[in-house]
Amino acid sequence: MEIFRDTPGLRSYLKSVRKRNLKLGLVPTMGALHTGHIALIDSSLKDCDLTVCSIFVNPLQFNNPEDYAKYPKALETDLKMLEQSGCHVVFVPEVQDLYSDSRVVNFKFGYLETTMEGEFRPGHFNGVGLIVLKLFNIVQPDNAYFGKKDLQQYVIIQKMADELSLDINIIGVDTVRDENGLALSSRNQRLSDVEKNEALIFYRSLCRAKDRLLNDVSVKEIKSEISEVFRKPGNTKLEYLEIVHSDTLRPVKNKFEKTNVSICIAGYVGKVRLIDNISII
Ligand code: PAJ
Repeated sequence: MEIFRDTPGLRSYLKSVRKRNLKLGLVPTMGALHTGHIALIDSSLKDCDLTVCSIFVNPLQFNNPEDYAKYPKALETDLKMLEQSGCHVVFVPEVQDLYSDSRVVNFKFGYLETTMEGEFRPGHFNGVGLIVLKLFNIVQPDNAYFGKKDLQQYVIIQKMADELSLDINIIGVDTVRDENGLALSSRNQRLSDVEKNEALIFYRSLCRAKDRLLNDVSVKEIKSEISEVFRKPGNTKLEYLEIVHSDTLRPVKNKFEKTNVSICIAGYVGKVRLIDNISII
């Protein structure tokens, strides 16, 4: 496995790779890797000749300085996991390598950046868009892999690739969960065992909402039922539960619209913010 710590080194390596006409897959991550990330690597290894994984905790996408400071870092273990997975190339740049102090370019994603996560994390998707486009330009992959766990991010990146005519296939990978249903997330590392148990409220609420929707209960009723569940005393807080069309993220208004719909949830367990979603295809 090759490891590159700056852009010029990676660029010149990939130039020689491209001459060999190899199909390139990119998996962008912020490290603290878990089985969910490795599912993305596995998909890329299956489809492509050469897989590049980037590890970069992107300061621009954190609206909360404490969340950025406390974001888990585990480079040594990450590299071991990647080596074991069969990943070919790892890119671990420094902040100064990617950003100058005089940046001026910003993204606006319209409705897609103001709904759900956008409402609670202003500026987040601008930061995601910038780093992902930079990584696309540095690596120039054929395929890029994103988890559907971050549905809004996946939809925004698909839209960006489409509107900017990028010649990259954006591939979504299903959410990997633990045996109890908790969606794997780097942030889970900040949860105690008790909190991990409490965090199951998110997946259970999603399943309950899905069940209610399939039984023709109205969106309004479902939302108030789930809010009620979170009102019980405890360490968890609900930020939102939304039922949306999976491609546009526009709210579902009619309880009989049940195809290509996603139920999205976000909130806190103690100080740790978690998101999750499930889809009805
Ligand atoms: P990060 O949270 O490290 O996630 C990297 C990728 O792994 C994302 O595409 C995410 O959706 C996917 N992922 C995370 N948990 C998953 C799970 N349980 N199952 C399947 N896939 C999962 O998302 C980011 O980093 C950043 O925003 C990034 C795209 C790297 C830009 O900085």
